[in-house]
Amino acid sequence: MLNARKAVQVMHEYHPPLAGRKGLRLDFNENTDGCSPRVLARIRQITAEELARYPEREPVEALVAAHLGLPADQVLLTNGVDEAIHLMCEAYLEPQDEVIVVTPTFSMYEIFAEATGATVLRVQCEADLAFPLDKTLRAVTPATRLIAVASPNNPTGGVATREQLLAIAGSAPTAALLVDEAYYEFHGKTVLSDVVGHENLFVARTFSKAYGLAGLRAGILVGPRAQMPMVRRVSSPYSVNAVALAALPVALRDREYVDNYVEQVKIGRVRLEQELTHAGIPWWPSQANFVLMKIGARHREFVAAMRQREILVRDRSADPGCDGCARITLGTVAQTDQMLAALREVVTELKLGAEVRA
Ligand SMILES: Cc1ncc(COP(=O)(O)O)c(C=O)c1O
Repeated sequence: MLNARKAVQVMHEYHPPLAGRKGLRLDFNENTDGCSPRVLARIRQITAEELARYPEREPVEALVAAHLGLPADQVLLTNGVDEAIHLMCEAYLEPQDEVIVVTPTFSMYEIFAEATGATVLRVQCEADLAFPLDKTLRAVTPATRLIAVASPNNPTGGVATREQLLAIAGSAPTAALLVDEAYYEFHGKTVLSDVVGHENLFVARTFSKAYGLAGLRAGILVGPRAQMPMVRRVSSPYSVNAVALAALPVALRDREYVDNYVEQVKIGRVRLEQELTHAGIPWWPSQANFVLMKIGARHREFVAAMRQREILVRDRSADPGCDGCARITLGTVAQTDQMLAALREVVTELKLGAEVRA
């Protein structure tokens, strides 16, 4: 009988709840407005010849590197941040190694790390879901080979500061620190320029969120000059497809589109936070395009009642430290109006926040 590797056999299956997503999609932190019309126009011009050829990544990689102000050899285009995480695990993890993941967070760090057979150590955020710097530093051992930190983090929306991240990189010189900046555009702070000068710092970005291209699957991995050839060895030369490569230069040029979308999300974020405060529903300050809130015991009913009103939101109650929590993604101003109207109805219907108001 054919057996998968032991590490794979004991892994949990991960099925994002993608089925039946009819309605306003405020459940996956996607862009809810669609990509820049210029990007769509470019994609519509794709020729049969472009599709017949294997995709050539390097020229676009050079362009993305120039956009980021970095040398091209430190920038790798990937099939989303997901592939960047996978490549880091493939390049650095042996079964006897340890990986530190700060929880609650994005699932794919654990999934790809566990598949290598490495041991995943979960460091829980503080009780208020703040970044646990001291606990993370204490978790580092000589076996630590990878530390994954999303900043802004999903699902909390919280961040690790540059000082905290550099303290971790400095305290674990034989580990790779992967800073996942998937939500960078909504925060505006980055450690990208620190990659030059640090021998173990990697930064990942994505076109899935602010740029509205989750379906194209395009991400960026930036890392130390000495390390990137190792990561490139385990990557497929064709993992970023021709359609994505045609779209990315146009996406990067249309700054106005991204700036406008980000502005609308930030307006929505403040409005949602105000609404939750008014309703007496606790929430966590977010630097991303979503807000995590504590609905309490009726979290499932909350998600179902929002769905009835064709607004999809995500139940995050199963995440460590997030008992009774839900996460709502922000979109355009008009979509925020629609979401807030539904939220008000559901808060009244389910009598949410009542204990706090009483
Ligand atoms: C922190 C974080 N990183 C990465 C991703 C996935 O990015 P990509 O679509 O580029 O694979 C997500 C998606 O939800 C995320 O929340």
